[in-house]
Amino acid sequence: MKKTIILNQSFEWHSDHKTLNKVEKTLVQEAKKITKKAHAPYSEFYVGAAVLLDNGIIVTGNNQENAAYPSGLCAERVALFYASAQYPEIKIKAIAITAKVKKTKTKIPITPCGACRQAMVEYESKFKQEIKVIMTCDAGKTYISPSAASLLPFTFEKNKLI
Ligand code: THU
Repeated sequence: MKKTIILNQSFEWHSDHKTLNKVEKTLVQEAKKITKKAHAPYSEFYVGAAVLLDNGIIVTGNNQENAAYPSGLCAERVALFYASAQYPEIKIKAIAITAKVKKTKTKIPITPCGACRQAMVEYESKFKQEIKVIMTCDAGKTYISPSAASLLPFTFEKNKLI
């Protein structure tokens, strides 16, 4: 038997930050703030991520580049790994991502790379709780995904390790 599987995912789209709720706005502000401290001398693309934990703590991170390029790490994983290292038992509720470039404003939402989506899914599996992913930019346009798994269909997770 052969059939076609159609995936049906819905995402929020906001044309600017005005329609975000209070928590989402705070996370976006924190992500934006931390872009300024990114170590991105090679790409000059400064990414910021803000992770909201179940206890209300917000952990932020930014991209850390390296002269040996593959040794660097994305903002999302810097924030997620720090959060997991410091608060291993606290569920992760949401993550906001944004970026800035040197002179111009980013115009389209910054969406996480595949490896960062995979890292988010790991914590969704660990805590059996979806992580809201808020993807935004300087211009304010924003996608919100209800979960990381929605951004990574046919995800590889621990139930496949049998
Ligand atoms: N980057 C992130 O920090 N997050 C992403 O989701 C995509 C890319 C970083 C990696 C590198 O330092 C720079 O952006 C350019 O790719």
